[in-house]
Amino acid sequence: MAVFGGVGLSSAWAAGQQHGGQGVHPRLLKFNFAAVPKSLADVVTVPRRYSYDVLYRLGDPIAAGVADYLNDGTDDPESFAHRAGDHHDGMSYFGLSRSGKRDENCSARGLLCVNHEAITPAFLHPTGQTVVDGARTVPEEVLREFYVHGVSVIKVVKKRGKKGEWSYKQDSRFNRRIHTLTTMKLSGPAAETPYMITKFSPDGSKTRGTVNNCANGATPWGTYLTCEENWAGYFRRIVATDDPNRTAKELASFARYGVVGNGRELWATVTPDTADDFYGRWNAMKLGASADGSDDYRNVANTYGWVVEIDPFNRTSIPKKRTALGRFAHEGAWLGPAKKGEPLVSYMGCDARNEYIYKYVSNRRWDPRDANAGMAAGDKYLDDGKLYVATFNADGTGEWRELSLGINNITSANPAYAFADQADVVINTRLAADAAGATKMDRPEWAAVHPKNGEVYVTLTNTNASSRPITSVDAANPRFYNDRKTTGQDQLGNPNGHIIRFAEERHKVDATSFTWDVFLFGARATADAINVNISGLTDANDFSSPDSVWFSRANPGLLWIETDDGAYTDVTNCMLLAAVPGEVGDGTRRTVTNVDGAVTQSVETPVGKELGEKRLRRFLVGSKECEITGVAETPDGKTLFVNIQHPGESTTPDFVTGTFGSHWPDGGVSRPRSATIAITKDDGDEIGV
Ligand code: FEO
Ligand code: CA
Ligand code: CA
Ligand code: CA
Repeated sequence: MAVFGGVGLSSAWAAGQQHGGQGVHPRLLKFNFAAVPKSLADVVTVPRRYSYDVLYRLGDPIAAGVADYLNDGTDDPESFAHRAGDHHDGMSYFGLSRSGKRDENCSARGLLCVNHEAITPAFLHPTGQTVVDGARTVPEEVLREFYVHGVSVIKVVKKRGKKGEWSYKQDSRFNRRIHTLTTMKLSGPAAETPYMITKFSPDGSKTRGTVNNCANGATPWGTYLTCEENWAGYFRRIVATDDPNRTAKELASFARYGVVGNGRELWATVTPDTADDFYGRWNAMKLGASADGSDDYRNVANTYGWVVEIDPFNRTSIPKKRTALGRFAHEGAWLGPAKKGEPLVSYMGCDARNEYIYKYVSNRRWDPRDANAGMAAGDKYLDDGKLYVATFNADGTGEWRELSLGINNITSANPAYAFADQADVVINTRLAADAAGATKMDRPEWAAVHPKNGEVYVTLTNTNASSRPITSVDAANPRFYNDRKTTGQDQLGNPNGHIIRFAEERHKVDATSFTWDVFLFGARATADAINVNISGLTDANDFSSPDSVWFSRANPGLLWIETDDGAYTDVTNCMLLAAVPGEVGDGTRRTVTNVDGAVTQSVETPVGKELGEKRLRRFLVGSKECEITGVAETPDGKTLFVNIQHPGESTTPDFVTGTFGSHWPDGGVSRPRSATIAITKDDGDEIGV
């Protein structure tokens, strides 16, 4: 058994560990629930002797005097500034003392920070979006959409008694919505540079809004990190008109990030605009005559794609976009346990096919006296550090390549993109990682750091045959197969995804090399056991498309896995599983034989030890057409918060008959609503183990 530095962890998070096993050897964790069967029902199923409360739904009011949500598309657009947003995603729980201070041990009340990644527009308006000749013609609809993206901070409270009943406090002074109209400071190497100049901020020091807030992170100093994922698609940039006005470098950057098209919600098409450019700020085209971009929004896309820090305890604090952590399709930012005198680390995935896994390492070493320093600690640890990208070698080793100007081909002589300075490097992180020769992965989503040994788990949710043909399979992304649906539909490539994990050399977060294996392969239990269902999944634990992975703090070693799946959905809705992993290198090397028509190809890869039903078990199955995402727990481990995202999103709604793809959570003929649920065990015991 490898040990983590030979000492217990001294950290601001140590409080969360006192409830679990002590020392370096994982306590033998035993599940306290029976596996939940796969299901296509329009309900959320938890194990027997467990219950859940629907805590916080799309539209729920979070300020005094805001009306209950009608959920028929007619709710006052301005009121959405004080309502729950849509598409609940990553979230964190911060314990709160009776007197309203941060209290890491408080399980009875807390601040829950919840991301609202995107929208199902059909359910927000009377009959979906009004679009005439490619333009949005009802500004009130767009205003609703501006507000329901972003982040919620809400105060949540548990009622006394054994059976936990959770609610949020509608009139709490802590409640706050952060959305696409919230002013944000830019911070770190790209702040106040010419790349960031907009009409909104001619000195490039700030921007307005955050969007597509996918997953999250939490810092040892009690702030929340929300991460901008598919931001690029929101901007309007008509290439035929704009390309001739842009430099070759600008065009290379737009192409690499996908800043092209009409904008996914057509926000920039509303006329007339407001004096504050509410709509035009989503137009990334060069429209003005200035040399620097201070009269239009040609640079606005550079102000998105970041990790954003929010202080949930200070309602008036201005969020900061931390540019040192790079700009890409940020899934989340997961810090390892903070150890006195050691740098801080954040592991991050860029979620698109053939993108990369990154880490950020602070230059400053952790001083536990900063544990309550708030955003000032963020300035210290998150604005000054080194960014790295991962390469995975076939032999089970790997290397971190630093993304700094002047090394790893990140120079002005680089043929694909001539890097000018470090601001240019962090803004164009994907291009820098290309130059450094990183390994293209099958859509990196969440990362989780094992609290006992520091090993890092990263979900690779899935890919398809066009993005990774059989000829592109490698040791770290080793499978190509046909996951044929029961409907007969072929699904070629790696539609079920896998979870990779790695151990930093000498367990140092600033190491530049690591060893890795594949922890778990998604598959149908019925799939080929040699080449597809390599992890030996059964009816009790088979799954597809892992997305969220998160380690319990109360029970170190307990890993939660959530799915965002479209492949196995002929058999089951998305789900949450509990796992008790071993460690990197506990399995063997396996040869995977891939077949695509006449092409047969084999690849050898290190694979973790099979878990079996004792160490991997399905805990929850969601309602129809939802994704299960976001996970947080109270410090005592007795409440688990989970998000049910976009139930009923795929079926075209029939507003006349009130027929939707799901009616969860309110039932009847109601429109479905994304929501946070709070799961408790009926005997008041801990969740999962
Ligand atoms: Fe927003 Fe990659 O999930
Ligand atoms: Ca996700
Ligand atoms: Ca996903
Ligand atoms: Ca989703």
